[in-house]
Amino acid sequence: MPENAKIEALFDNIAPNYDRLNKLMSFGADRVWRKRMVGKLKNSQADTVLDVATGTADVALSLAKAGYSVTGTDISERMLEIGRKKLEANGLAEKVELLRAEAERLPFSDASFDAVTVAFGVRNFGNLNAGLSEMCRVLQKGGRLFVLELSYPDNRLLFFLYKLYALHIIPFVCGAISGNPGAYRYLPKSILQFPKSEAFASLLRSAGFENIKEFSFSFGVCRLYVAEKS
Ligand SMILES: C[S@@+](CC[C@H](N)C(=O)[O-])C[C@H]1O[C@@H](n2cnc3c(N)ncnc32)[C@H](O)[C@@H]1O
Repeated sequence: MPENAKIEALFDNIAPNYDRLNKLMSFGADRVWRKRMVGKLKNSQADTVLDVATGTADVALSLAKAGYSVTGTDISERMLEIGRKKLEANGLAEKVELLRAEAERLPFSDASFDAVTVAFGVRNFGNLNAGLSEMCRVLQKGGRLFVLELSYPDNRLLFFLYKLYALHIIPFVCGAISGNPGAYRYLPKSILQFPKSEAFASLLRSAGFENIKEFSFSFGVCRLYVAEKS
C-alpha cells in the first residue's frame, strides 16, 4: 500500500487533468458506474451520506442533486478545490460540505451517517483496514457502505487484453497528456494488485460489515460492493 503523503501529492499533481483523463481511460464509463452506485443507494433508506475520497466531488454532486445531505472528504486539497468549483457551478455549494480528511482518521463522531460511499478511492488508502473500520465507525447501525472500485475481468482472454490496455496504453497516453507518466503507471498497477470479490468481502467483514453483496460492471472492470454495518 502507498503512503498517504505520496498519494496526496500524486492527486494534487494530476487534479487539473483528473476528470478528462478518467473519461478518456474508461471511454466515459466512469460516469455510468458512479450513477449505478447512486442508483443502488437510492433503493436504501438514507438521508445523511458521507462520500469518502470524494476527489472532484462527482458522487457528492449527484447525491446532492438527488436531495441527500452530503459531506465529502479527501486528502487532496487540489482535488477538493475542483470539486468546490463544480458544486458552485451547479448552485449546490451551500448544500455539500467538502473537507480535507484522511479516510483512516475521519473527523466525525460514531454513527454520524446513514450511508457512506467511496468511488475509486479504497485501493489508494495507505491503510485499507483502518479506512474500512473508520467508515464502519461513522455509519449508524444497519447503515450501508457502497464501495465502487476498478478491478479486472475474470475471463482469461479479457484479462489478457485488459492488462495490455492498463499496463501499456494507459501509461503512455495518459502519462503524455498529464505530464505525469509515473502516476499513470501506478494507477493501473494498483488495480491489478487490489483484492477483489471474496478477498475484499473478507476485509469488509473484519472491519465490521455483514450482508455483503457484489455487483460486477463491464465484465468485472468495475465492481460495486454494498455492505451493512453489523
Ligand atoms: C481515483 S480518485 C477518485 C475520486 C472520486 N471519488 C471519483 O469518483 O472520481 C481517488 C481519490 O481518493 C483520494 N484518497 C486516496 N487515499 C485517501 C485517503 N487515505 N484518505 C482520503 N482520501 C484519499 C485521493 O486524493 C483521490 O482524490
